[in-house]
Amino acid sequence: MTTAAPGRGDATRRLVLGIETSCDETAAAVVADGREVLSNVVASQHELHAEYRGVVPEIASRAHVERIAPVLDEALARAGVALADIHALAVGNRPGLIGALLVGVAAAKALAWSLSVPLVGVDHIHAHLYAGCLDRPAPAFPALGLVVSGGHTAISLCDSPTRIRRLGSTIDDAAGEAFDKAAAILGLPHPGGPNVDAQSRTGDPRALDLPMSRLGPDSLDFSFSGLKTALLYAVRGVPSHRGRPGTPPKGVSVPDACASFQRAVVDAIALKLNRAFDQHPGCRTLLVGGGVIANSALRASLTRLANERSLDLRLPPLALCVDNAAMIAGLGYQLLEARAWASDPLSLSATPTVSV
Ligand code: KG4
Ligand code: ZN
Repeated sequence: MTTAAPGRGDATRRLVLGIETSCDETAAAVVADGREVLSNVVASQHELHAEYRGVVPEIASRAHVERIAPVLDEALARAGVALADIHALAVGNRPGLIGALLVGVAAAKALAWSLSVPLVGVDHIHAHLYAGCLDRPAPAFPALGLVVSGGHTAISLCDSPTRIRRLGSTIDDAAGEAFDKAAAILGLPHPGGPNVDAQSRTGDPRALDLPMSRLGPDSLDFSFSGLKTALLYAVRGVPSHRGRPGTPPKGVSVPDACASFQRAVVDAIALKLNRAFDQHPGCRTLLVGGGVIANSALRASLTRLANERSLDLRLPPLALCVDNAAMIAGLGYQLLEARAWASDPLSLSATPTVSV
């Protein structure tokens, strides 16, 4: 695809229209110069998936098809701009549910082609790390990045907003997935994370002695499946083994179980972040993103860690922690700047798997 020189409408600001459909949020946003969020529209599908206690890919794809056009209209209207003012299209094209990703990618391609503007595919995980750079001055690099969401848990080394290398990730459940499964064990509704967080406020975080997986002295990987099983056994009892009687449940309250589980997850994240900063002392910035960053105990723990180590912690506001298109548009702008606004081809594909 040929590259249209930026310079439409207000030539002093470059507007990127971002699109995000990787999971169960249909989102569009307009961001100026990669930093100023002019609009950020998110249509959540939580109510469609609640009865299944998880995202059903086919339902997600269909809902994206129904919602993408009105969400795009709303994003332009709230930004007070027309399609003709847009300089480029950015779309989250990896990783995610393939059918869901394809809806956003098709919409972005159609718009980029019809407007003759560049198209850029954006990594969803890298975009989460960019959320804390929006509506604020640029942070110092190199930085360390933490993404904790329903599908991903990873620590990355960021040499710049666009040059990112993964240092560690979960070897089983993502942190958000673990929160959601803990909520299911405790009979709390989906999505579980916010409910576990709310219940924890009145619970004792030391009521249950739950295990924390360290995975060796230097590892920056995470594991949450053992913690989840420990919670299950604590509240339902240890099942019988080879004819021996099982251990009865401990009679723990839901708030105590939630607070103990939450503490174990948050402590594991803090442990790995401290290790990462010890291993990369040149990093003075901590970029964070993903739905689990909404967790109150995690936010407090990250703030403490940043104070202790004198770090520039980029905690995004809640609307930019969860899946959104402003982070896609912002990082899309940086990717385009780094390559003189050359467009991705219209054959741009959607990729379900994580890039390294
Ligand atoms: O980033 P996100 O919106 O979507 C994905 O890309 O996965 O993250 C959703 C995840 C869910 O697992 C949800 O339970 C979790 O973030 N979450 C929380 C909280 N708010 C959302 N987990 C713990 N505490 C919260 N307050
Ligand atoms: Zn996400």
